[in-house]
Amino acid sequence: MTTPAPSSSSEPGAIDGVPVYDHLLEIRALRTFFFTQRGVVKAVHDVSLHLDEGEVLGLVGESGCGKTMTALSILKLVDPPGRIVGGEVRLRGRDLLMLREEEIRRVRGRAVSMIFQEAGAAMNPMLTVGFQIAETAMVHLGIRKKEAMSLAVKMLEDVRIPDAARRSREYPHQLSGGMKQRAMIAMALVCRPSILIADEPTTALDVTIQAEILDLLARLREEYRLTILLITHDLGVVAEIADRVAVMYAGKIVEEAAASDFFREPRHPYSAGLLRAMRKDAGTRAARRLAAIEGAVPDLLHPPAGCLFSPRCGDAFDACAERHPPLVRSIGAPSRGPAAVRAAASPEGALLSDAFPRKVACFQFDALPEAPRSPDGAGWDAERGR
Ligand SMILES: Nc1ncnc2c1ncn2[C@@H]1O[C@H](COP(=O)(O)OP(=O)(O)OP(=O)(O)O)[C@@H](O)[C@H]1O
Ligand code: SF4
Ligand SMILES: [Mg+2]
Repeated sequence: MTTPAPSSSSEPGAIDGVPVYDHLLEIRALRTFFFTQRGVVKAVHDVSLHLDEGEVLGLVGESGCGKTMTALSILKLVDPPGRIVGGEVRLRGRDLLMLREEEIRRVRGRAVSMIFQEAGAAMNPMLTVGFQIAETAMVHLGIRKKEAMSLAVKMLEDVRIPDAARRSREYPHQLSGGMKQRAMIAMALVCRPSILIADEPTTALDVTIQAEILDLLARLREEYRLTILLITHDLGVVAEIADRVAVMYAGKIVEEAAASDFFREPRHPYSAGLLRAMRKDAGTRAARRLAAIEGAVPDLLHPPAGCLFSPRCGDAFDACAERHPPLVRSIGAPSRGPAAVRAAASPEGALLSDAFPRKVACFQFDALPEAPRSPDGAGWDAERGR
């Protein structure tokens, strides 16, 4: 985390002309809506997230909850009828949403790179794999074709594609699914971005290849000093590689926690359902998906009144019908509602304690006051030795 300090420059938020920022990437109150003939779909609704240098944040949630739209919004890649209608996406303090098209084009691939959800479809079938990687380097790095082609071969070696020089001259259809995904990763990293957004990088692959791709990402994270936003349905993938987890439901973040805390004790009833679904079918492939929670995600054209999760929530109580709860820092066991009663009654529940801060959007949890900052920029938790 970069330390904010008093500004001595006339630029707001800058010290001697150098901007200061709390996080490498900070998304604040992002809103991306689709304006359809049937009405407005709030696909991303007041989403706030951050990424710190070198970490892997896993963004999880069922299909249609807004993960991809959040990622596309970061790079201003949302197509009509979708539109980013509010919020900020600050990369090292600079709001990407304020950039003109030619400016954001320089950010894409260069500073922030994305592996798209459909890896195969994202490749041009008419061009060799090597040329596609080289082309990205020529556009962003301004290098000549010969140099770019050598760089492409080196990238294919870096993503552990055997016989990389020969493979670079092949077309996408000549590569297996796993190889294609490796080539996509090579293309995403050729300009050495600081941030990699990987949208479902393992979903279409079989379990063995999934594991290989995850190993590769873990290794490249070190080699390339990457910060990764990993989007997935698969909590197993998150457990393997993520430092923190953000859970999305119906366009909103409902829980954010350190991965270790999340897997030990998910707080939001939706998170708990996801984890139960994963554990119930552990070992089978279907089980690693998140479809097993009862009920369906709401139609975002007609979202439920009150808490968006209330129609599926076994813990819902009166307050849940009134409005959707805000995402707040929370500590300890639930303090209200039926779950609180159960938690208080069980010896295990009485031991629940919060080793690390986390945020939950659920009326069962009391909000903590926002953390005051210590002089060295560390937050509330560091001050209390947590
Ligand atoms: N072209 C569109 N027109 C209208 N609504 C759209 C359109 N594209 C996406 N949406 C809405 O945005 C919501 C979020 O979509 P998004 O692709 O971000 O979901 P996701 O979490 O990535 O799902 P998946 O896991 O299936 O990839 C969808 O539920 C849908 O309601
Ligand atoms: S606010 Fe109420 S309905 Fe929503 S998740 Fe919490 S307990 Fe369930
Ligand atoms: Mg998606």
